[in-house]
Amino acid sequence: MRPTRLSMRLGLTVSIFCALLVLIMATLAYATLSRQLDARAVDALNEKLSQIEHSLAEGLSSVAEVVLHPHNLRDQIIGHDDYTLTILDSSSPRRQLLSLGGDEGKELPIPETDGRSKDFLHLTSPEGQETLMAYRVVRLLNGQHVLVLLSLDRKSDVALLNAYVKSSLFAVPLILLLVGGGAWWFVHRELKPLRAFRKVAAMVSARDLSHRMKVDGLPDELRDLAHAINFMLHRLDSDVQQLAQFSDDLAHELRSPMNNLMGKAQVTLSRERPPSEYKQVLESCTEELERLSRMVSQMLFLASVSQPSVPLATESIDLRSEAEKVTELFSHSAEDKGMSLVIRGYAHAHGETLMIQRAISNLLSNAIRHGPAGSTVALELAESRTEALLAVRNTGEGIAAEHLPRIFDRFYRVHPSRSRQQGGTGLGLAIVRSIMSLHEGHVTVESELDGPTTFKLIFPKSA
Ligand SMILES: Nc1ncnc2c1ncn2[C@@H]1O[C@H](COP(=O)(O)OP(=O)(O)OP(=O)(O)O)[C@@H](O)[C@H]1O
Ligand SMILES: [Mg+2]
Repeated sequence: MRPTRLSMRLGLTVSIFCALLVLIMATLAYATLSRQLDARAVDALNEKLSQIEHSLAEGLSSVAEVVLHPHNLRDQIIGHDDYTLTILDSSSPRRQLLSLGGDEGKELPIPETDGRSKDFLHLTSPEGQETLMAYRVVRLLNGQHVLVLLSLDRKSDVALLNAYVKSSLFAVPLILLLVGGGAWWFVHRELKPLRAFRKVAAMVSARDLSHRMKVDGLPDELRDLAHAINFMLHRLDSDVQQLAQFSDDLAHELRSPMNNLMGKAQVTLSRERPPSEYKQVLESCTEELERLSRMVSQMLFLASVSQPSVPLATESIDLRSEAEKVTELFSHSAEDKGMSLVIRGYAHAHGETLMIQRAISNLLSNAIRHGPAGSTVALELAESRTEALLAVRNTGEGIAAEHLPRIFDRFYRVHPSRSRQQGGTGLGLAIVRSIMSLHEGHVTVESELDGPTTFKLIFPKSA
């Protein structure tokens, strides 16, 4: 079964790879060592055999002399217990003339030879003794031939190789244990910050989104993750705060018309009244209910624009003709205030006609509401290669700088009670902003106290 802990998994994986690596390296080292020892044994045998060959050919004139005066040959291998020198005559079958050295008197196989080349023979006894034998036919001074066998007992080489294998077998598990344990410890230590992530995640709730990850001292990969999590928490925090603010505002907005309606109904019912008075109260209640109904439909529209369920059905729109249509709708209310509406310039944008009409009409209704009687409201259109622009400008009291950053928030009004009296819900500009972001554009405002106020709808050309 795969371990579930990452540190354990990494430790095991590193150990397995390390085991393979150590195994390959140990095998290579064993092969190289064994080859080197073989080569050295062959060289040593060769050298010694050449010396013996020289002594035989130069110093001993016949087979009889070889048997009678072996001390010359004994000197050659004295002090070398690993060597055994055997000399055989040329008769068939060959007869052993002499045997000197470590394995003196021991039966050795007699190799077949043509007498011209030097040859080697590897022998392994049933007890596991390894012997390397070099043999050569040597011609004595009197013309007789003898077969010289020089064997080297490889016990010291075998012991060396065995010692190497033993130490490897002991060292490899130790190395693996160290490497695996080290990898586990390192990963365990390096993943410590993840426990801080878990801690923060456990503390975060909709009621408390203030917790943040500590970024200092984290490795790069985790630092990016911590930044992303902090950014996500920050966004969630501000969204949740907005939502809380929105429900507060909504309750507040609904409370006054509800109280009004209830108050009016209770006062009217407190005693008998003539029918005309009931009619008057019902008319005023209807007005209040209409405002409430308008607010609910504005909110529903805002919700649908903020979280659209279907993609925008966009088309190329002639902003001038849309501006003219909306202006036409507002011509009566403008006339009532003695105001004139002018349209200048041309522009085209991509978007959904009804939404764009709604954005223009929200701006125009504000301009007419806040512009002084007899003034002019100007709709200016312009376009560049990258943008289309529709600006709505009115004169009047203007908006103080401190209100400008919040003017597009839901239910935000500069003069709350006055705006409510005039029937405003405080949602008009929030709707404009949502419509513009749906069109990948934006809305801006420029205003100052007692100066002109300009709202601009900016559409990107590529949308
Ligand atoms: N052209 C303008 N001149 C001065 N103040 C403005 C102008 N347009 C908007 N405002 C201020 O911004 C506030 C928010 O406007 P918004 O259109 O969102 O709400 P509203 O007009 O009060 O309500 P609704 O649009 O739902 O009728 C207004 O109450 C008003 O104080
Ligand atoms: Mg408005």
